[in-house]
Amino acid sequence: MRISVVGCGFVGLTTGVALAHLGYRVHLVDINKNRLSSITEGESPFYEPLLDKMLMTGLKNKTITMGSDIEKAVKTSKFIIIAVQTPVDKGGSSNLSFLLKCSRSIARSLSAGKIIIIKSTVPPGTTLNKVVPILESDSGLKAGKDFGIVMNPEFLQEGRAIKDTLEPSRIIVGSLKKKHGEQVMSLFHSIDAPKLITDIPTAEMIKLVSNCFLATKISFANEIANLCEKVGVDVVEVMDGVGLDDRIGRRFLNAGLGFGGSCLPKDLSALIAFSRNHDLNLRLLKATESVNSAQPLRAVDLLEETLGSLKGKKIAILGLAFKSGVDDVRDTRALPIATELVSRGATVMGYDPLANENFQKLLPSISLKPSIKDALFGADGCIIQTEEKEFAKLRQQDFSGMRNRFVIDGRRVIQSPKKLTDFGINIKAIGLGDTKSVRGKGGSSAK
Ligand code: UDX
Repeated sequence: MRISVVGCGFVGLTTGVALAHLGYRVHLVDINKNRLSSITEGESPFYEPLLDKMLMTGLKNKTITMGSDIEKAVKTSKFIIIAVQTPVDKGGSSNLSFLLKCSRSIARSLSAGKIIIIKSTVPPGTTLNKVVPILESDSGLKAGKDFGIVMNPEFLQEGRAIKDTLEPSRIIVGSLKKKHGEQVMSLFHSIDAPKLITDIPTAEMIKLVSNCFLATKISFANEIANLCEKVGVDVVEVMDGVGLDDRIGRRFLNAGLGFGGSCLPKDLSALIAFSRNHDLNLRLLKATESVNSAQPLRAVDLLEETLGSLKGKKIAILGLAFKSGVDDVRDTRALPIATELVSRGATVMGYDPLANENFQKLLPSISLKPSIKDALFGADGCIIQTEEKEFAKLRQQDFSGMRNRFVIDGRRVIQSPKKLTDFGINIKAIGLGDTKSVRGKGGSSAK
């Protein structure tokens, strides 16, 4: 049984490679020739642990093939997975142009008995109101009767995408006809995870709502962090305590400089725009978005509170990707931080173990360095922007090249700030203020 995956971006390629690992014959389709040739060499176009190795295995044992001809792929496969990008447009809505164009190409060679699986993230109603009419009119076939149409959202985190595909938190399949949903679900029979079959709009909604909830959890933690800082309470300890309630849970309550990446900001904006089109103002999600826009600038304000005007100051940013362990800079919080620093007159040096090259394309004006030491050399201050392990291991001697040893820990990676403070390094951290305003006269820490 052959499965074609149309769109070899992060989701499509990971899904295809994982399905080949499960024993299926997978055909990858992309119109981008550079991307295809890199995949043919067994090299993923982006960094993702395990992916290259598993791709190479699939190529060697011929369970993975690839090409750019969608129509041929459709003719020779039972299942066709659509995993093309759905970026946001200027107004914040989902841009469906890639998805609809791809649906048109698929429709041209669609024949009875096929099952189309949408994996791209889309607003509720998109599959039934926009994709299905194209598939039906261009093929002359009837959805649900002649061909199957199914929505199967992904919940992959970058940096652990293969693990998340093979050991998912859940598998959601939204289907027009139950039998097609069951056929798609049976592709994952060897995976032990909670499985839920719904209708298509529900599956579309589950995907967006999951990401919006995660985003809201993070913004909530960030807002509490700002309060904790003011009154001298440590937000990490607070969330450790709060998260022990299993109705709440500790994950995604790490305060920091806000969320970035290819999904949370995009899906939040898409759900807000979608509700606006349905005359509903989602106030909570708008607040989540606005906390997230302000949060990265907190690091810049903390710098200024100590250093005074940033004009002429040299500031190092450690961590340029949207999170640790990836080379992806989409919606990275390093961008508003660097832009704000530059606008306040600072010179910015940056370092990331994986993302220097990608960040340079995003902001050519800042100076990128090959190591932490180089980035810190001569700096008046530094902002830790991701949770890289090498930042957590920084010792007093690592800061010795700085002109002024002042560090903003934007992701709470430094385990013992007190130790570094004892060596004359000035540390400020998100959610860790030094005011003791709520401790009364003798109130000391329990530590
Ligand atoms: C996210 C979702 O987790 C995943 O389920 C979905 O399919 C795609 O979007 P990803 O974009 O890979 O995955 O990143 P994630 O690990 O969720 O982190 C997103 C952002 O939130 C990062 O910038 C990260 O630094 C930030 N974050 C995450 C926090 O600030 N605090 C947290 O507690 C968790």
